[in-house]
Order: sequence, then C-alpha cells, then structure tokens
Amino acid sequence: MFKDDLLKDKVIVVTGGGTGLGKSMALRCAELGAKLVLTSRRQEVIDEAAKEVAERGSEALAQTCDIRDYASVEGMVAAAVARFGRVDGLINNAAGNFLCPSEDLSPGGFQAIVSIVLNGTFHATHAVGKQLIEQGEGGTILSITTTYATHGSAYVLPSACAKAGVKVLTHSLAVEWAKYKIRLNAIAPGPFPTEGAWAKLMPPGMEDVLSADKIPAKRFGEHHELANLAAYLLADGSAYVTGQEITIDGGESLMAGEFNGLTLLDPGNVAQVLAMMRPPKKG
Ligand code: HXC
Ligand code: NAP
Repeated sequence: MFKDDLLKDKVIVVTGGGTGLGKSMALRCAELGAKLVLTSRRQEVIDEAAKEVAERGSEALAQTCDIRDYASVEGMVAAAVARFGRVDGLINNAAGNFLCPSEDLSPGGFQAIVSIVLNGTFHATHAVGKQLIEQGEGGTILSITTTYATHGSAYVLPSACAKAGVKVLTHSLAVEWAKYKIRLNAIAPGPFPTEGAWAKLMPPGMEDVLSADKIPAKRFGEHHELANLAAYLLADGSAYVTGQEITIDGGESLMAGEFNGLTLLDPGNVAQVLAMMRPPKKG
C-alpha cells in the first residue's frame, strides 16, 4: 500500500524489536527503506531480526539495552549514532505484562511493569528526543499503548496505569516538542496474536479472555495491518498528525455501546424478537 521508498534512509530505533509486533514493524520499515536499530535485553532475538532486515535489503544494528536503565538507553542511542550518524525515529514498543488479581499484587510486581512500560518509554523518548533536538531536523516518536489505556482493565492494573501514562506523555510532548518538529503519536492495538502476549495474557482454559467472537470484525488483528499504520505515522506524509492515539482493534473497544451486545447473538433471532416488539401498523 506504500511506495517502496516511503522510509528511505530513515534511521528508526525499535525497542523490543526482536519479537512480536516490534519485529513485524521493524521488518515492514526495512521493506520501505529504513535502517533499523533493534534493541531489547536478549542479543539472540535482535540478532535474528537483524538478519531478517538484511534479507529485505536493508541494514540493522542489533544493540542490547535494558530500557529500565537510563544509562543503558543512552549507550544504545550513542551506538546508533556511531553506526548510522543519526536517528530519525523511535518506536516505543517494549513492554511487560501479566494477569494478576490486584489485591495479590506486590509493590515489586507493580514496579516491574511500570518501570518497563512507563519509565522505559520515558527513557527512550528522552534519550532519542535529545538526539533529535541536537540534529535540528525533527523526527517522529511512536508509542504502542493499548485500548485499555483509556478504559482501564481488570487484572492488568500496572500495565493499564503505565500505558495511560505513555498516552499522556504522547499528548504532552507533542505540544512541547512541536517547536523542534518532533511529532509524537501512539497506536492502541486490540488483540494481535504474538507469543509474548498470548503466553502472559491467555489463561489456560479461559481462552474467552482474548476471543475474536467479541470483536465486531470477528477476527484478531494481523501484524501487517498494524505495521502499515506504524509506517504511515513514521513517514513524512503524516507530518500534520501529532499527539494522537490511533486505535486499531476491529471495533472491539466500542462494544460498550448499550445495545451492542445484540450483535453477538444470532442476527435472525434478534430480528425476529425485535419484530415482535414492534407495535402493529396503525390504520
Ligand atoms: C504476580 C508477578 C508475576 C505474576 C512477576 N511478578 N510475574 N506477580 N503475577 N504473573 C512479580 C514478581 O513476584 C516480582 O515481585 C516482580 O513482579 C518482578 O518479577 P521478576 O520476575 O523479577 O520480573 P522481571 O525479571 O523484571 O520481568 C518482568 C516481567 C517478565 C514483566 C515479569 O514477564 C518480562 O520480562 N516480560 C516481558 C515480555 C512481556 O511481558 N510481554 C507481554 C507484553 S503483552 P516481588 O514483589 O517479588 O519483587 C502486552 C499486551 C497488552 O502488553 C494488551 C493485550 C490485548
Ligand atoms: P512481546 O513480543 O512480548 O514484546 C515485548 C518486547 O519487549 C520483547 O521483545 C522484550 O524483549 C522487550 N522488553 C521487555 N522488557 C524490556 C526491557 N526492560 N528493556 C528492553 N526491552 C524489553 O509482546 P508483543 O505482543 O509483541 O507486544 C509489543 C507491544 O504491543 C507492547 O507494547 C504491548 O503492550 C503492545 N500491545 C500488544 C498487544 C497484542 O495483542 N499483542 C495488544 C496491545 C498492545 P526482551 O525480553 O529481549 O527484553
């Protein structure tokens, strides 16, 4: 859906770029001409992703970093600049999550998630932001939130709180850093199958938790759909879009609408019952 040179020679950092959605976005950016800086704690997963970037005709630096540690993030950005001479974009994709009754959460458990998702996103945004400001040519920062950053969610309290913080970070810096021509946007995905998310969030025997049946589109998201949205938001053509969180969820987050539950029932039965409720025609 895009010209092959949409992101030509842009240098894009992807946190958590060795697995799941981060890898899918990185590979799509590579197909569109970007150079990638892939970062996460495990060298082997980013090395493998870098190989796949090369297979797509582009190049990647696989640089480990723990986004909870600001010095580690600064080192990663310095390595990116040493390799490519500059940075143009950042995808804040790395995250941690687990399901837990909130009354059973320990302060350490809450902190573990918030330090990856919120502190880590701040660290990467700040370190890349400073580099973009120094370069003086603007840039783009994209964060992956979730739909429950807006509505909240039971059993994932630390993630919901942290993602809400990332959403507000996006709104805040979009205004503050507009003077540097730095744009910040977010993507709020509904369920997109990945090994990482499914292992953490699909309790055995309770597969209804993440069920495609509850989604108006009646299916989960496909990685290429999210990756194309990311590419659009990273490209120069979206220059007037900033401070936005764009939902991509097949309509799932709108299901709270009072009577939307009727769409989950057999449409023939629903029509029949509603017809019975209709008053007889007058005259
Ligand atoms: C309760 C838990 C827990 C669990 C860990 N803790 N797992 N508490 N239930 N299932 C607590 C521990 O007891 C400890 O608390 C604290 O958290 C830190 O635990 P560690 O094991 O030391 O954590 P750490 O090594 O920092 O690992 C972080 C992690 C891990 C989040 C726990 O799973 C991880 O690294 N995950 C990265 C990948 C990931 O989670 N991907 C899923 C993203 S999916 P104490 O009190 O003992 O210190 C996603 C999708 C959203 O975000 C939307 C879907 C629709
Ligand atoms: P994933 O594969 O588990 O991705 C998480 C990534 O974060 C991993 O690559 C992990 O790599 C990295 N990471 C974790 N802690 C880190 C740290 N301290 N420093 C650096 N990197 C770290 O899960 P995913 O499903 O692709 O999720 C990607 C993003 O999409 C997340 O922000 C998630 O919240 C969001 N999201 C996903 C869904 C979905 O349905 N899949 C829905 C909504 C939102 P290492 O372990 O090597 O560090």
